[in-house]
Amino acid sequence: WKTLDDMDLAGKVVLTRVDVNVPMENGVVTDATRIEKIVPTVKDIQAKGGKVVLLAHFDRPKGKVVPSMSLGLVKDALAAALGCTVIFATDCIGAPAAAAIASAGPGDVVLLENTRFHAGEEKNDPELAKAMAALGDVYVNDAFSAAHRAHASTAGIAHLLPAAAGRLMAAELKALEAALGQPVRPVVAVVGGAKVSTKLDLLGNLVSKVDHLVIGGGMANTFLVAQGVEVGKSLAERDMADTAREILGKAQAAGCTIHLPLDVVVAREFKAGAANETVSVGACPADAMILDAGPQTVAALESVFAAAKTLIWNGPLGAFEIEPFDAATNAAAKSVAALTRAGKLVSVAGGGDTVAALNKAGAADDFSFISTAGGAFLEWMEGKELPGVAALTLT
Ligand code: 3PG
Repeated sequence: WKTLDDMDLAGKVVLTRVDVNVPMENGVVTDATRIEKIVPTVKDIQAKGGKVVLLAHFDRPKGKVVPSMSLGLVKDALAAALGCTVIFATDCIGAPAAAAIASAGPGDVVLLENTRFHAGEEKNDPELAKAMAALGDVYVNDAFSAAHRAHASTAGIAHLLPAAAGRLMAAELKALEAALGQPVRPVVAVVGGAKVSTKLDLLGNLVSKVDHLVIGGGMANTFLVAQGVEVGKSLAERDMADTAREILGKAQAAGCTIHLPLDVVVAREFKAGAANETVSVGACPADAMILDAGPQTVAALESVFAAAKTLIWNGPLGAFEIEPFDAATNAAAKSVAALTRAGKLVSVAGGGDTVAALNKAGAADDFSFISTAGGAFLEWMEGKELPGVAALTLT
């Protein structure tokens, strides 16, 4: 794929696909990370003499015009982050879009309305892609976090105009390549979260790629059950035991060492501050549930991390949203952060809950790279081709 460096943008209208699908409460953006991350791309296009026209989706309006999902709601946050005038167009195609683009002066940014207000967006309708492409001269995709969708604005349009990756897209692809494509070994993957069933493909792909796979959170319980370890009332998918055993077998054949908890923090209630105790794995009382990994597990992980050169992280190790069951996640995250800061480890993390957990641990800033992607990061970890990235490769 090409980058902005390969494109002549002087005097061109640059249709720039971004992901500003940000969390919002009562019309106010509560986390502007995704907006801040597109600033370098916008500034670079402007510096190269291009007129920036932003294409984006917001939420899931399913082909209907839903006022509460209008991109007009993020216009002010965008203008604040970019420090320039943002002109909003009430449609992402046709006369309203063309008029907004024509009215934009040098240094202004045009924000087109939610692409998903058109049913053709999610169907990757060629007519919609054509109508979008008609508005500009070049296409830049800076929305890695929407690249797992084969939509008109993420894939279809890339075939109709000269196309390139924006700065954020390029940085995401570079970081992910360093973590799983051509990594410096040993490579450790930390995978947590509630259920094995949602991360089957991901685990299956990772065991053939990494040297160490740390399994934490509720999904570790399923692996413990698969090994005949009793987990009391813990969250565990008992019907996934065979699948878990298959993954363990595949890992062994591939020379990937799986790390499961050695000790666990158990409680009788799932609530903040619940009375708890730390026991060896296998000693979970019948009426208790595992809510976190224990200190012995964390110490073992710290030695695995210390010997590693590359680490990729998705999912918390325990019930990180309620204290004190965030302890293992916090300690492990801090250990990765310290090794990264010391230049000993390349660390990449992604996925909604993961970033929240690392932020809560105060460790996110020290990771080498934190992806802005949720679903796209997972699909990429599953080894799937992302249509938005594939479309850029073809042009
Ligand atoms: C995300 O928030 O992960 C992206 O914006 C993609 O959104 P989607 O899951 O609605 O396609």
